[in-house]
Amino acid sequence: RKIIKAGLLGLGTVGTGVYKLAKRQKEEIEKKTGVSLQIEGILVHNIEKKREGVDPSLLTDNYRDLTGNEEISVIIEVMGGIEPAKTIILEAMRAGKSVVTANKDLVAVHGAQLYETAAENGVDFLFEAAVAGGIPIIRPLKQCLAGNEISDAVGIVNGTTNYILTRMFEDNMEFQEALDQATELGYAEADPTADIQGLDAGRKIAILASTAFHSRVVFDDVYTEGITKITARDIRYAKEFDSVIKLLGIARQRDGQIEAAVYPMLISKDHPLATVRDSFNAVFVHGDAVDDVMFYGRGAGEFPTASAVMGDVIDVIRNMQYGCTGRIGCTCYRTTPVKNPGD
Ligand code: NAP
Ligand code: HSE
Repeated sequence: RKIIKAGLLGLGTVGTGVYKLAKRQKEEIEKKTGVSLQIEGILVHNIEKKREGVDPSLLTDNYRDLTGNEEISVIIEVMGGIEPAKTIILEAMRAGKSVVTANKDLVAVHGAQLYETAAENGVDFLFEAAVAGGIPIIRPLKQCLAGNEISDAVGIVNGTTNYILTRMFEDNMEFQEALDQATELGYAEADPTADIQGLDAGRKIAILASTAFHSRVVFDDVYTEGITKITARDIRYAKEFDSVIKLLGIARQRDGQIEAAVYPMLISKDHPLATVRDSFNAVFVHGDAVDDVMFYGRGAGEFPTASAVMGDVIDVIRNMQYGCTGRIGCTCYRTTPVKNPGD
């Protein structure tokens, strides 16, 4: 059986999920793609750290062991941050490797350049896991809903803050204790201020707006306000009004004008978003033909995020194998036409 070799950048919460899933789903992946997926090497920061269930000979702290390895055709970037992730990804693409990433920090700012480089080099660049963890949202917007003019993509797109708000509401938990729990559960970013200040949600809204409205919205275009000022008194008042507080991400287009923002909002307990608890996310999309669609599921964590990453990896493999589905990434970032096999 043909083997497709992948290089994994990062073995933290998401990377560990991807590694375990690649093992657990080995036969499924073979059934679905006709090839065997092999993780050939893993980039980490601390090579001395013990990693249960991982063959230590796979670990490296030199990314060129992966980007320079001609046998590797897919790079899975789950290390996070802008640099060195951006440099490594660009180098990998220029070496003819397709890239799958969960890195919203990077896509929200440099998505256009990355997409352009992927197109120039005829490789895939997919980032389903960058928005709303395990929920399929990028691909549905680009494919299933492509027949619509989308006017709204609105919802809860950060699991950590939704977890914190849920604990504060339901258990009267202190903010810090709830944040500590979210970190422990693997929902929070390496620097959780990105979650609680609304920056992580803002990055996702930039990506959602770009995708939904086929435009270029970058993180700096998004108004962001987090939940750090929410107090126990706010929670009490919300309860008195039969409401809850949720951190909402809003991407709207009206008459060619795009609104992109993140801020906490008081919403009635009867509203469907009020029932989205813990680390779950939900995104409402309105299209002129389909009307309202709601996407709901786990927005963060090891396996939900690994699920989205692995879906992208399988698409990359299918494209390599069959070239029949076309390059199915986010075409809004595309500035040069992509030539697919068979075109
Ligand atoms: P994490 O637990 O902090 O793991 C990061 C991994 O990358 C670690 O293994 C770390 O190595 C490695 N790494 C970081 N910088 C490195 C460098 N300069 N050189 C070599 N290795 C480096 O992060 P995570 O939660 O898995 O998140 C990874 C990415 O997925 C981020 O972009 C995040 O925004 C995104 N994401 C996360 C979630 C989630 O629920 N956690 C969901 C969706 C998307 P060491 O192990 O040696 O420290
Ligand atoms: N820190 C992010 C969150 C991870 O809590 O939503 C998923 O993108």
